[in-house]
Amino acid sequence: MATVLALLASARRNGYTASLLNEAVNASRQVKGVSLDVHNLHDYQFGPCTSCFACIRSDEHLCVLKDDMGADGELWQAVTCAHGLILADPVHGWGPSAMAHLFLERLYPALFSGIFSGLPFGSISCASNQGMQHLARSEICKWAFCKGFRYQGGLAVHVVHLDESMREAAALGRRVAEAAREDERDGRHPYTDQERFLAYADSHWVAYEPYIANLTRGTGSWEESILYQGLQAGVFTRPDARELAEQALEVLRQSLAARDEDKGEESYKLLVRASAFWTRATWKQFLEEEVIGASQPDAYRPVNGQGRGESQGAEGS
Ligand SMILES: Cc1cc2nc3c(=O)[nH]c(=O)nc-3n(C[C@H](O)[C@H](O)[C@H](O)COP(=O)(O)O)c2cc1C
Repeated sequence: MATVLALLASARRNGYTASLLNEAVNASRQVKGVSLDVHNLHDYQFGPCTSCFACIRSDEHLCVLKDDMGADGELWQAVTCAHGLILADPVHGWGPSAMAHLFLERLYPALFSGIFSGLPFGSISCASNQGMQHLARSEICKWAFCKGFRYQGGLAVHVVHLDESMREAAALGRRVAEAAREDERDGRHPYTDQERFLAYADSHWVAYEPYIANLTRGTGSWEESILYQGLQAGVFTRPDARELAEQALEVLRQSLAARDEDKGEESYKLLVRASAFWTRATWKQFLEEEVIGASQPDAYRPVNGQGRGESQGAEGS
């Protein structure tokens, strides 16, 4: 039997967000071979990640905190048993609620084991006042991308359209349940990094432009990039970090050149590779010795992220 974990991030147990989640849950239940595990995040005790990085240093890549999102925690256990996940979240301050952010932040250890890469996921962002539900949905989609979830869609709801949204919530619930059934039947299919970036190319958050902006400091030009300028300034003092940063710069230049030639997909694939080199370079220079005390786990942002199984981890930091 496949399990869909349905999580409500609203403290209002019978509010608008809850009614949408109920609709999704009822529709999920109709899918044969699927059972539902429904919880309110407010019933659990967990705080933010404390940056101890024990989850990276240990081979198991599990959280050592003694709360509901630690390795032995009830909520963490529920996520690890799930074949699909639905998160229903009220819009707070033009974005996701703090509770949703907290929950997703605490999934950090899984970036290094890859266990949630490919987990079917859908979200509901519900607003009833000024709105900005689209911003909230994009943000949750970005986090789903970071975790490597297999995105089944996200609803941006304003209660002005509650009736219509109820039907969309039901459809989303069915989609997640069907994907969960496959996850249980066939086993999880973790994304390679390249698959993940491409899979989200039609989603509510597309990595390409933000990542180009990230590396080039918003300019789109390699001369202005954080890579080139960091290298010029001699910031990469470790030879291995410097070499990785140089490789990142070279591949970024290729990606930007492909973009100039309107070769969108090639540019995107090269960007995935540049970003993997960049992740490794910064890890070596700024994190490995002084902060984490461990080298970068193989599953996390491999530079050869083409083949299945070589790249079970995902982007996160
Ligand atoms: C801290 C806080 C911030 C909020 N910010 C927004 C907002 O940015 N936009 C909006 O439309 N509603 C906002 N609201 C209202 C909630 O989004 C509203 O309650 C929403 O419909 C969720 O439904 P629920 O509370 O019935 O679950 C906010 C509520 C709180 C408590």
